[in-house]
Order: sequence, then C-alpha cells, then structure tokens
Amino acid sequence: MKRILVTGGAGFIGSHTVVELLNSNYEVVIADDLSNSSMEVLNGIEHITGQYPIFEKIDLKCKNSVSELFNKYTNIESVIHFAAHKAVGESVQNPLKYYENNLSPLVYILQELHSLQRPIHFIFSSSCTVYGDTSISPITEDAEVKSAASPYGNTKQIGEEILKDTCKSNNFLNVISLRYFNPIGAHPSNNIGELPQGKPQNLVPFITQTAAGLHNSLTVHGDDYPTPDGTCIRDYIDVVDLAKAHVLALKRLINGENKENYEVFNLGTGKGSSVKEVIQSFEKMSAMSLTYKVGPRRYGDVVTAFANTSKAEKILGWKSKTSLDKSILKAWNWEKKIRNIKNK
Ligand code: UD1
Repeated sequence: MKRILVTGGAGFIGSHTVVELLNSNYEVVIADDLSNSSMEVLNGIEHITGQYPIFEKIDLKCKNSVSELFNKYTNIESVIHFAAHKAVGESVQNPLKYYENNLSPLVYILQELHSLQRPIHFIFSSSCTVYGDTSISPITEDAEVKSAASPYGNTKQIGEEILKDTCKSNNFLNVISLRYFNPIGAHPSNNIGELPQGKPQNLVPFITQTAAGLHNSLTVHGDDYPTPDGTCIRDYIDVVDLAKAHVLALKRLINGENKENYEVFNLGTGKGSSVKEVIQSFEKMSAMSLTYKVGPRRYGDVVTAFANTSKAEKILGWKSKTSLDKSILKAWNWEKKIRNIKNK
C-alpha cells in the first residue's frame, strides 16, 4: 500500500487523524518536530490502534531535511499537512516565526511533490479564520475571504493561495483544504488528547485546566456582545469527527472523485454555542462548578462564527456526530488523566 505522509501527526488533530488512517488500513509516516507535542502521543496511538506509527522527528523548515524525507520514503502517495503553529496572540508578537514555520515547509513539500511528476493527493489543514471578521453565519465556503485578523490567520490564507496557484501549474496535484471551526475534545479511549504548551488561549483547554486547578479562574472575554447571553458564539467540533473527515477527503482524492484539483470544505457542527453555554456544558458534564469572571472583550474576536456544513455533508458524506456535552466530557476526562486527578 502507498504511504500517507502526515506532517504534524503527533499534534492534537494530527494524532487523532493518524488513528483514523491506521484504523482504515492506510500506511502512515508521521513527520513532526515535537515542538508542540511529545513522543508519548505515539504510545497513545499504539494503544488505540495496535500499531506504533512510523515516525520521523524532522524540522520541516529545513529544505534539505524535507528532501531527505522524500528520498527515504519514495512511495508517498498522499500528504496531510498539519504541521503549523496556531497561537494567534504569539503570531502577533512574532509574525516572522509564523510566516517561516507555517509557510516555508509547505513550499518545500510542494517542491518535492512537483519533482515526483506523478499523481499526489494533498490535504491542507486550514481554518475558519480565513473568513476573517464575517458578520454572516452560518458561513459557506464561498463566503468572502476577508483580510486576516492575525499573522496566524494570514498564514492560513496564504497557504491556501500557494496551493491554489500550485494546482494551476501542476496537473498531478490534487488538493483539499479543510477549514476547521473550533476543534475540541479527545479520543474516547482517553489515550490521546490536547496537550497545549504554556497557558492555553483557547476556551475549552482553559476551562479544563482551571477546573484541574492550574488557573484560579477563567475570564470570559466580554458579555456585552449582541448575542442572546452577551458572549461570543462559536462552532465547537469534536476532534474525532474532524479526524474522520480527513479520511473521507483523502478517499475522494484517491478515488479521483474531485471535480476540481483544488477544493475547500468547512468542517464544523453547523451549530453555534456561546461561551456561557460551553461553561454550562462543562459544569453539567463534570458535576463541578467552574470559577469564572467576566472581563473585557478580547481584541480580534468575531461575535459569531459557525459553519454551514452542507457541502461537506453532500460531497464528502461527512457530518459531525458528537454533541458538545460529550466532547467536553472527553476533554475533561483527558485533563483529569494527564493531571492525575482521580476524584473530580
Ligand atoms: C481561535 C483563533 C482561530 C484558531 C482557533 C483554533 C482567534 C481570533 N481565533 O479561535 O484562528 O483557528 O482559535 O486554535 O484567536 N474565550 C474566553 N475566555 C478564554 C478563552 C476564550 O472567553 O479564556 C472565548 C473567546 O473570546 C471566544 C471563544 O471563547 O469567544 C472561543 O475562543 P478560542 O477557543 O480562543 O477560539 P477562537 O477565538 O474562536
């Protein structure tokens, strides 16, 4: 069987996707620099699938290392490219780190693929952040791509542009960009989950860490928005559901079912939940009360963003299955496991 290269395969969404690929009998090579993950993740994958994945610790920002990777694994047929930094605030502080890390590996990988001169399938890990400050939800794939609110968001927009342009000049290349809404949760086996480095900026890991005692309280970033309870609305999508969409997208490309050689799909639940609803869900599922206070709005937050998922439903045959409650419970079970919390 031909191999799938999964860059960033030890990360949060990458590791869950590797599990789904191995369970669907694909042969996987993970390439990861472990900058935001650990070797433990590979053990977790083995626990779930019975297979320890082929792993290369590699800095994809190094062009020579990327070449060596493709020289070593000559039968790579598909690439799922997750490897990227994703902290919005850090990207504002250090934009060049983000432009280098999120874009140069993409270019080097595409150069290698171009030189193969044979059909290649490529899945790009994109984000709803490409829609920028949109006032219309549910968001469809043809919504206007507005100027990015952060260098991180810009790297996703530019990444998509790089792929679109490369597809125009390379008939061997077939690409699907998957625009994720807000990935949360963990594997139901509790063997893999999110491992944020430092203080998380995202809502759900901050909630579970606060409940685990790592922070005194959660700050709700604003409750004076024009929404029913005043807090922002997002589309929280379970990471396992998200991972399964990658397998379906890959199959579409492998089976040659794609209509264009560059396609885009939204991946969300289609349902918006407010920050307060997420907190309520956590409190219900954990049977704990969460300490939180309301602070000022966070710069750059859009009021409401949730997906129109019709395209993924119709074309990929994909639909999210996991409820917000179940997904949050999995995130909490994972937090308890990594913090050795027994009785909460
Ligand atoms: C953010 C990024 C997005 C990225 C995604 C996944 C921005 C503007 N967008 O999405 O590009 O793809 O993460 O990494 O940063 N909240 C609180 N208190 C907290 C944390 C969050 O109230 O401590 C609120 C936020 O204000 C927001 C909601 O929770 O309303 C979700 O925030 P977050 O999890 O950071 O995701 P996004 O901002 O939607």
